[in-house]
Amino acid sequence: TTMAGSLLAQLQKLHVQRSDFPACSPRLNPFDVYRIHLANTLSEITDIQPGIIYPLLQRTSTLDKGDLLLPVPALRVKGERPEVLASRWADQFPESTLVSKPVIDGSFLQFYFKPATLVKQVIPAVLQNRTEWGKNPLLGLKDGNDASKGRKRIVIEFSSPNIAKPFHQGHLRSTIIGGFLANLYEGAGWDVVRLNYLGDWGKQYGLLALGFKMFGDEKALEIDPIQHLYQIYVKINSLLADERKEIERLEKDGKDASKLRNGGLDEQARQYFKAMCDNDLEAISIWKKFRELSIHRYKESYTRLNIRFDEYAGESLVQEESMKIAQEQLERKGLVEESQGAAIVDFSKYVSGKAGKALGKALIRKTDGTSLYLTRDVGALFERKIHYNFDQMIYVVATDQELHLKQLFKLIELTGNEDLRSRITHVSFGLVLGMSTRRGTVVFLDDVLRDVGEKMHEVMRKNETKYARVSDPERTADILGISSVMVQDMSGKRINNYRFNIDTMTSFEGDTGPYLQYSHARLCSILLKADVPSSEIESANLDLLVEPHAINIVRLIAQAPDTIQNTLKTLEPTTILTYLFRLTHVINSSYDVLQVVGSERELMKARLALYDAAKSVINNGMRLLGLTPLDRM
Ligand code: ARG
Repeated sequence: TTMAGSLLAQLQKLHVQRSDFPACSPRLNPFDVYRIHLANTLSEITDIQPGIIYPLLQRTSTLDKGDLLLPVPALRVKGERPEVLASRWADQFPESTLVSKPVIDGSFLQFYFKPATLVKQVIPAVLQNRTEWGKNPLLGLKDGNDASKGRKRIVIEFSSPNIAKPFHQGHLRSTIIGGFLANLYEGAGWDVVRLNYLGDWGKQYGLLALGFKMFGDEKALEIDPIQHLYQIYVKINSLLADERKEIERLEKDGKDASKLRNGGLDEQARQYFKAMCDNDLEAISIWKKFRELSIHRYKESYTRLNIRFDEYAGESLVQEESMKIAQEQLERKGLVEESQGAAIVDFSKYVSGKAGKALGKALIRKTDGTSLYLTRDVGALFERKIHYNFDQMIYVVATDQELHLKQLFKLIELTGNEDLRSRITHVSFGLVLGMSTRRGTVVFLDDVLRDVGEKMHEVMRKNETKYARVSDPERTADILGISSVMVQDMSGKRINNYRFNIDTMTSFEGDTGPYLQYSHARLCSILLKADVPSSEIESANLDLLVEPHAINIVRLIAQAPDTIQNTLKTLEPTTILTYLFRLTHVINSSYDVLQVVGSERELMKARLALYDAAKSVINNGMRLLGLTPLDRM
């Protein structure tokens, strides 16, 4: 503390005004300390305002480029070549306790943090703040630094599976990414609402209820609602397909198909759904039961993924009233047309060119007055705005619903709700290819998790001596399996498709979930074996950390808060994951150099402090991603 404290005192002497640097938090983000220092020092040399220099200082992508970079051309100084300026400024740069003399790299200046001051600033901060280190609760404050104005609120809608249908790869990705985003915003001090918008409404649920009447079984429903409803769903849909073929055949032969048309399954399902919409108690009660039992099962799976929801919303819960308001707003603006008894909006009339054509036409209400997916989304949005009064809302939905969300957003804009439009974002993601389970290609979340868990168990068994030492192999295998799936999912940019490969993801080689877990567990075991009380670790003499390996670990640790903060802009889990792998690579290659066991006591304590801090940062990062860090495996 004394060291970090005196650094802060030093900075105050430099007349640092926090308001000069937006979102600057030197207490929580060591990089901000250096940015302030560099911005002020460079300002004296260059006569350029610190506030202009500050945001141009960039974190480096690899440690051999320094810790912070200044791209001189970005300062747009007229009259002199950036290379010339860079070299002159480097010469004029004064002696500093925080950074070494800048290194010139063409028109870039590279700054290296001085190890001694860095180590003493970073390690104690991590060890004292533990799980809080890397978070920045100031970012979510409504008004800069004024906590009394309250926190900003964000609604994150994610997962959103459809009852009675498979929980497919799109839902899995939405769950993983949405859970991560919720953690990310929470760490940034936002008030986060986690919302699951279940697909639980529409004619297909009329059909499902009909199917349940025909071949449903109460007992089977209680035991495994998701499987049982899916079986019914498949069965009744195949009967429906037969019916459609039969109608087609009859009509082709010029025969009368009206009996089937007016009294067949399709028409019955429509009527059933209409009854649900009209709040017919019997029709509603059976469907309510499907919904409740399914939610119960979903919750079990979500718990395994460290995910919880604040609200299980759903298409069914959108009030008719809200949809009416939506339609009235559209009508008032003259946007709605009639088309064969139904209400439509033709976007090409209001949005010119290609974009308008791409948006096409959207059905707002069906002939029989029942609502549609899109209309329900408009109504749901209006309700959320009133209910949560959010600052931001994110829809975590696959790119294959891009058009749907574009239409939704456009409708909000066309109805004149520009402010609301500016608060909503679609966070999209690509496909997972080739996801199947041992039972077949229809994918249920539980089956995927079971499969990877079993696979991990097989992998673990291959090392008999190690396996014998694991106290709860079932649980360990389960967690490793889940980590495998999640890490693979978060490895690339969201928008990229990737192939679901159970062999690659469960390997201990490469940047995988098991590798990350192993790296964490190894640090835990070093600390456990050394068996030094934490008070001694915390008071270690950090001057003893001088080896390049030790310094590089600290330099990377120092990047954590800044990396996390930057992720709020990209909303990419891979930003965090890539950082964690960079850190684990450096740590895993340091063990031969930075031995703990066998070292002299003082040195041992200093190295333990280093490893303890590293463990904490990895642990925080893993939890942020939604993983469960293992202490032993
Ligand atoms: N239940 C939908 C599906 O599985 C996803 C819901 C996306 N969210 C929304 N507000 N439309 O396709």
